[in-house]
Amino acid sequence: MSITIKTGAELDAMRIAGRLASEVLDYLTPHVVPGVTTEALDKLAHDYMVQVQGTIPAPLNYAPGGHTPYPKSICASVNHQICHGIPNDRALKSGDIVNLDITVIKEGWHGDTSRMFVVGEGSIAAKRLCSLTYDAMWKGIVKVKPGVRLGDIGHAIQTFVENQGFSVVREFCGHGIGQKFHEEPQVLHYGRPGTMEELKPGMIFTIEPMVNAGKKDIKALGDGWTIVTKDRSLSAQWEHTVLVTETGYEVLTLSDGSPPLPDFVTATKT
Ligand code: MF3
Ligand code: CO
Ligand code: CO
Repeated sequence: MSITIKTGAELDAMRIAGRLASEVLDYLTPHVVPGVTTEALDKLAHDYMVQVQGTIPAPLNYAPGGHTPYPKSICASVNHQICHGIPNDRALKSGDIVNLDITVIKEGWHGDTSRMFVVGEGSIAAKRLCSLTYDAMWKGIVKVKPGVRLGDIGHAIQTFVENQGFSVVREFCGHGIGQKFHEEPQVLHYGRPGTMEELKPGMIFTIEPMVNAGKKDIKALGDGWTIVTKDRSLSAQWEHTVLVTETGYEVLTLSDGSPPLPDFVTATKT
C-alpha cells in the first residue's frame, strides 16, 4: 500500500474526527489532578467517547501484528513512561507528568492527538520538558507544505531538541492516518533534510515526537505495551494530526481547549 490522498468529503470526515479527539482531552483536563487514577481517566474518556460523542475508542482491543490486544480506551504514560502506558489504579500525585493519548473513530475515520499534563505543582525541569516537547512538535508542523520532504520535518524536530540537550526517541514515529489507525508513511522525528517522501496536498499524518530528558534509549515493559526510558529519565510527548494543504498545513486536532500556539507559529501564520 502507498500513501493515500484524501479529498472532499474525506477531509471533512477527518476534520470532525480530529476535533472530537481533541475535545476528549478538553473534557479530561479538569480531572487530571492529584489523587485521580489513570484508570478513572480512562473510564471518563471511554464513556464520553461512546455515550456523548458517538465515537469508538480506537485503542481498545487494538492488536497490530504481534501485540496482545490493547486493554484500555486511552494511553496514559506517566513520568519515565514514553508511550502506550496502560491506565491503572495508581493515583497521580503532585509533580507527576502524564501524557494522555486519544484516538477516536467517527464514521470510520480516525483522529489521533495527545497532550502533556503537569499534575499539581510541577518541577521546573518537568515543565521545561513538557513545553520544549510541545515546541518540538510545532517545529515539525510548521515545515509541512507540498514539496517538503519528511526528512525536513524530522530534522527540524531533532535539531531543536538536541540543541537544548534533550534526546529524541527513535523507535516510535508519527504515521499516516485515515480509515486506518496507522497508515503509511512513517513520520520519523529525526532525519536529514531533503530525504524521504515528498509531501503532497491531501496527505494526512501525525507528528508526535517523544522527547527524553536523558538518553534516547528505551525499554519495553512486560505488559506487552508500555515503553519507558532505559535510564528512567522523564519523557514527554505531544501529538497532532496534520493535513497537507495546497499552500501549507491544517492541524485537524484543534479544539477550544487546545493550548495556545507557540509564538514562532503565530508569528509566521498568515
Ligand atoms: N495513539 C498512539 C499513536 O499515536 C497509538 C496507541 S496504540 C495503543 O499512534 F494500542 F496503544 F493504543
Ligand atoms: Co499517533
Ligand atoms: Co496517539
